[in-house]
Amino acid sequence: MKAIILAGGAGSRLYPLTQVSSKQLQAVFDKPMIYYPLTVLMASGVSDLCLISTSDDLPRYQRLLGDGRQWGVSIVYREQPAPEGIAQAFLIAADFIGSDSVVLMLGDNIFSGGDDFPRAVSSFDGGATIFAYHVKDPQRYGVVEFDHNGRATSIEEKPRQPKSSYAVPGVYIYDNDVLEIARAVKPSARGELEITDVNLEYLRRGKLQVRRLSRGFAWLDAGTSTALHEASAYIDAIERRQGVKIGCPEEAALVRGFLSIEQFEALIQKMPACEYSDYLRVVANEWHRLKGEI
Ligand code: TTP
Repeated sequence: MKAIILAGGAGSRLYPLTQVSSKQLQAVFDKPMIYYPLTVLMASGVSDLCLISTSDDLPRYQRLLGDGRQWGVSIVYREQPAPEGIAQAFLIAADFIGSDSVVLMLGDNIFSGGDDFPRAVSSFDGGATIFAYHVKDPQRYGVVEFDHNGRATSIEEKPRQPKSSYAVPGVYIYDNDVLEIARAVKPSARGELEITDVNLEYLRRGKLQVRRLSRGFAWLDAGTSTALHEASAYIDAIERRQGVKIGCPEEAALVRGFLSIEQFEALIQKMPACEYSDYLRVVANEWHRLKGEI
C-alpha cells in the first residue's frame, strides 16, 4: 500500500497566515499540521509516501520532512502547479503509485482516537474504502446517504439539501483501478477534478465500501483561523489530559517498527531541549520499562 498526502490548495480562508506559509505547515498546537495526517498513515503501517504541494511550498516540506529516512519511511515529492482538484493527485503521482493500491489523505485533516484507519488499511482487499462521519454542517462536505441496511446509496458534493448528516472525511483507500478512473474524470462546474466523482464511479461499479467512524472519534477541520485555533485547543486539551501526543511521527515509527529503539533514541539526541524531545524521552523510557529493561 502506498500513500499520498495532498498538501497544496490555495488556503484562501486562512489569509493572511497563508501569505507566510502553506496551510498544512501552520502550527496545530505544538506541531505543524502536516504531522497529523503523516502520523495517521505511518500508524496504519504505510511507509511509502508521496507529498504533493505547490512549487512555492514544496521546498519548505522537503526541509521539514526530508526523504523520511530519519523515521524509517520514504517520502517523495510531486508538484501540483494549480489547485485543480483532489482527484488530480492520482494523475500527478501515477508513476509513484505504479501497480499498487493507495491511500489518499488530505494534508489539513486532523484525526484523533480509534484504530479505524489501521484496521481499514490492513483489511483492504480491493475496490474503494471511504469513511463517513456525523457532522452538524454536512453541506460543507461530500455527503453520503445510506439505505436501511447501512449500504451507501448516494454521494453528493457540497449539497444544498444534504440527504444525511454523514460527511466524507479526507481519507480514501483505492485499488489500482483509481488510475484509470481518475483519468476519465472530467472537471466539474467549479473547474476541479472531484474526488466525489471517483467515489461515485466505485459506487456505480458496486465496489465502494463506506465505513462509519465511531462517535468517540474526532475529525477536525483547520481551514479557517477560528477552526485552526479550535483544533489547537482540542489537541492541547487531549494531550494534557492523557499525557500522550497526537500526531507524533517519531512515536508512530517506533511503535510500527520503522525505527529501532536505538535509532529512536539517536533521533532524540539530535533535538534541542524542548517539550517535544522531553515527551519522546518519556516514550523511550516507557518502551524500556515494558521490555523489563529498567
Ligand atoms: P480545500 O480546503 O477545499 O481548499 P484550500 O486548502 O485550497 O482552502 P481554501 O478553500 O481556503 O482556499 O482543500 C482541502 C485540502 O485539499 C487541503 O489540504 C488542500 C488540498 N487540495 C490540494 O492540495 N489541491 C487541490 O487541487 C485541492 C482542491 C485541494
